[in-house]
Amino acid sequence: MSTVTVRHAQGSYPVYVEPGLAGRLEELVGRHLPDRRVAMIADRTVHELYKAGRLGGSRWEPETLTFPAGERSKTRETWSLLTDQLLRLNFGRDSGIVALGGGVAGDLAGFVAATYLRGVPYLQVPTSLLAMLDASVGGKTAVDTAEGKNLIGAFHPPVAVLADPGVLGTLPDREYRAGLAEAVKHGLIADLDYFEWMERQAEQLLAREAGAVEHLVRRSVEIKAQVVSEDERETGRRAILNAGHTVAHAIERATQYRVLHGEAVGLGLVAETALATGLGVASPEAGARVVALLERLGLPTRVPEPVGPDRLLAAMGRDKKNRGGGIRFALPRAVGRMGPGPDWTTEAAEATIVAALHAIS
Ligand SMILES: NC(=O)c1ccc[n+]([C@@H]2O[C@H](COP(=O)([O-])OP(=O)(O)OC[C@H]3O[C@@H](n4cnc5c(N)ncnc54)[C@H](O)[C@@H]3O)[C@@H](O)[C@H]2O)c1
Ligand SMILES: [Zn+2]
Repeated sequence: MSTVTVRHAQGSYPVYVEPGLAGRLEELVGRHLPDRRVAMIADRTVHELYKAGRLGGSRWEPETLTFPAGERSKTRETWSLLTDQLLRLNFGRDSGIVALGGGVAGDLAGFVAATYLRGVPYLQVPTSLLAMLDASVGGKTAVDTAEGKNLIGAFHPPVAVLADPGVLGTLPDREYRAGLAEAVKHGLIADLDYFEWMERQAEQLLAREAGAVEHLVRRSVEIKAQVVSEDERETGRRAILNAGHTVAHAIERATQYRVLHGEAVGLGLVAETALATGLGVASPEAGARVVALLERLGLPTRVPEPVGPDRLLAAMGRDKKNRGGGIRFALPRAVGRMGPGPDWTTEAAEATIVAALHAIS
């Protein structure tokens, strides 16, 4: 079994990447949440697939709490409903949570685990590509509010992550491609070789060839694990993982989440690379390569709705990464390299941002 270790202030946890893990869910949960009364939290789509044996074939039936699938469920209201249910069912301090599903289930169940009775342990079992290669790793949990994404949350590392690429077979194409955008981000921010591998393997990735998908998940997990292990609380370099995300969050808000998170990240990478070029931080070549790779992976490079730069700029106003007056971005200098600046972010003036947003709208 291939294992990537993530370090954090209180210790470390393993991320297992291996086809077939989901079929051994009961055994692995027993190992990582020993002697705990387990509550599984999943969205309804994923739970139906799980019950039908279509997510790895596990026959285990733990007590399960569900919520409607989709980003619109990632709220304090859903968090209240889930924690109220746990209280009514008398889950105590000896509870353990299993987060089964995409990034929404992971962020939501993780925030439940972070707060329930002041914190109980939890295990991430990502079932979307995006959750498997990005969201399940790093211990950030959160819910969205009307003011913006992920504004209420906590750092709460899981006890383990079980990433089984074998469960991706049922994932709709659009969701699968959305996950690829976070992998493009990983290549752009930290690994030119990986980016070039994706350029060469675009067709195999789109066809979901097993070997290619497994390598993709493993390499992305390694990159994310390394970055978050160095800087758990995002006081410095972890900010590079936010590449594309300042614009992405604005697109998600402005389209009321009709553009998926991964799609918005791809668009954000295009706009923020254009911004880096506009600021003289990156060469135009980096932007052209990002656009070309996203296109080959079947991802949008223009916002599919008529939201202009001004609306996006307004939606960016309250992004939590902003400090003081200006809007700050984690910008690429070249494919595989981020910076400059001691805190890995650069402030940009509104006119420069608007000019860059024209690249996607
Ligand atoms: N905490 C972090 O570090 C972090 C990092 C990146 C993204 N995120 C968050 O992750 C969220 C996006 O995650 P997502 O794209 O996985 O969204 P999601 O959880 O909504 O899952 C996408 C859709 O796929 C379905 N699905 C999941 N697995 C499936 C499977 N195996 N077969 C069939 N359908 C399946 C779900 O029911 C859902 O409808 C966003 O809220 C984003 O903010 C968090
Ligand atoms: Zn993301």
